[in-house]
Amino acid sequence: MALAKTDASGGSGLLPEVLAFSTSLGLDRQLLKEDLLGSMAHVTMLGRTGVIPAKEARVIRDGLVDLWRRDDAGTLVLPDEEDVHMAVEVELNRTIGAPAALLHSARSRNVQVATDLRLHVRDSVATALTSLCTLVDEVVERAKKDGGILMPSYTHRQRAQPISLGYWLASYGAAFLRDAQAFAFALDQSDALALGSGAISGTSLPIDREITKSLLGFSRLTLNGLDTVGERDFALDYLYATARFFVHASRLSTDLIDFTTSEFGFATLSGEISMGSSMMPQKKNPDVFELIRGKSGRAIGNLMGLLTTVKGLPGGYNRDLQEDRGPLLETKPMLHGVVSVLRLSLPHVTFHPEKCRVGLDEGFTQATDLAEALVKKGMAFRVAYKHVGALVKKCQEQGITLSKASVELAKSIDPAIDAEALSVLEASGAVARKQSAGSTGPASVQAQLAALSTQARALSEKSKTVPRFGALFEQLSAAPL
Ligand code: ARG
Repeated sequence: MALAKTDASGGSGLLPEVLAFSTSLGLDRQLLKEDLLGSMAHVTMLGRTGVIPAKEARVIRDGLVDLWRRDDAGTLVLPDEEDVHMAVEVELNRTIGAPAALLHSARSRNVQVATDLRLHVRDSVATALTSLCTLVDEVVERAKKDGGILMPSYTHRQRAQPISLGYWLASYGAAFLRDAQAFAFALDQSDALALGSGAISGTSLPIDREITKSLLGFSRLTLNGLDTVGERDFALDYLYATARFFVHASRLSTDLIDFTTSEFGFATLSGEISMGSSMMPQKKNPDVFELIRGKSGRAIGNLMGLLTTVKGLPGGYNRDLQEDRGPLLETKPMLHGVVSVLRLSLPHVTFHPEKCRVGLDEGFTQATDLAEALVKKGMAFRVAYKHVGALVKKCQEQGITLSKASVELAKSIDPAIDAEALSVLEASGAVARKQSAGSTGPASVQAQLAALSTQARALSEKSKTVPRFGALFEQLSAAPL
C-alpha cells in the first residue's frame, strides 16, 4: 500500500530497491510512541474543532491506543513502509478501516517527523537532566566526605599548586552544572508544538493548534510553519549539550585514568569497575573511563553529522533531513548510559591521601605560596618570583625538596626569605591560606559546593515539569472529545 503516492507521483508503484534505499522505518520505528502520541493529540483536536466528526475521531484514537498497547505487549508488527508515520497509518487502516483516512487532515509527514523529534528530545533531555543534576549532587557529597585530601593540581600535566580533592571535585561539578544548563536550554528549544504547520504553509482547515499544544504539554507553538518543517535546531542543541557533557566526562576520565596509574598512584578502582587483560595477569584496567572518553568522539561526530546535514539546505522540508535520525537516535542510549555509568563508577574510585601528598612536596608545588609570602612582606611579585625560582634551582641541585631548604640557603638568595616566610611551605597551610572567591581555600570550596547544590536542585525541578510519555498516553486516551 503506497499511501504517499498518487497518479501525479507516477502511480502507486515504487521499485522495491528504491523503497529499501529510502525507507527510514528501520530507525524511526524507535519513534513509534512519539508518533502515536502526536497522532492521538492531533485527532483529538480534529474532533474537538469539528474538522472531522467526533465519533470518528474517537474510533481513530482508540485504534491508536490499540497500536500502543500491542507495541507494549510486543505483538505489533508494522508493515514495510517509507517511514513510521506511513506504517502507523497503514496499520491503523488495517485495524479500524475507513475512518483511518480522516487522520491525516491538516497534517503532513514533514510536521509529524518534526513533532516526533521534539517529543523525543524533550523526553530524553528530561531524563538526562534529572540524572545529571543527581550526578552534581553526588559529586558535592563526595567532596564533603573526602574533600580534605590534599593533592597537586596540574597545568601542562606538570605539578602546579596544592589543592584539595574537594576543589578538584567541585571543578567537575561546575562543568556538569553548566552542561545541565545547556540541556535545560535544549529542553526549552524543543518545547514548542510543530503540529498544525501543514506541509509548509499551514492549512485552510479550521484547526486549533492551542488545543494540540496543551494536549501534548508543550509551552508554546512554533512561530512559522516553513521554518518548523525544515529546521532541526532543537536537535542540534541537544547534540551539542551531549557532546559538551561527554567532553567534560572525558576529561574527568583522563584525570582518573592518570591518577590510577602506578606512576601517579593517587587512586585505585575497585574490582567491580575495572577490567583485566586476557594475557597479562597483573592488569587492572580503567576501561570504563576509556569508553566514556571514546564515546565523546561519537557524540562530537553526531553533532558534526547533523550540522553537515542541515548546512546548505534550501528552506522548507528536504528529504536530506531524514539523515538526522542516525545521530539523534543514537544519542539517547549513549547519553543515558554515560551519565549512569559515571554515577555508578565514581563511588568505586578510592583516593589515597598519603600518595596524593607525596606528589606535593616532590613537585615544589608551594613555590608560588613562598613568592606570595614575600609579596605580603612588601616585595614586588616579579622580584619574589625570581628569588623563589633561584631557591628552587638550588634545592634541585642539592636534591632536596623546597620544604627541606634551610634558612641559610634561603637567605643566601635574599635575606627577606627568612624562617617566617619559609613556614608557608606546609601544603595544608598553602591550601588553607587561599582566600579568593573560587579558590581552593576551604571556605571558598564550601561556597562552591553550596552553589552547585542549589543550582542543581533548581534545574532538576525544571526537568520534573516535563510530561512523560506514559502520563501523556493516559491523559490523551481519556481526553474529552
Ligand atoms: N521519512 C521522512 C523523514 O523522516 C518523513 C517526511 C517525509 N516527507 C516527505 N515529503 N517525503 O524525514
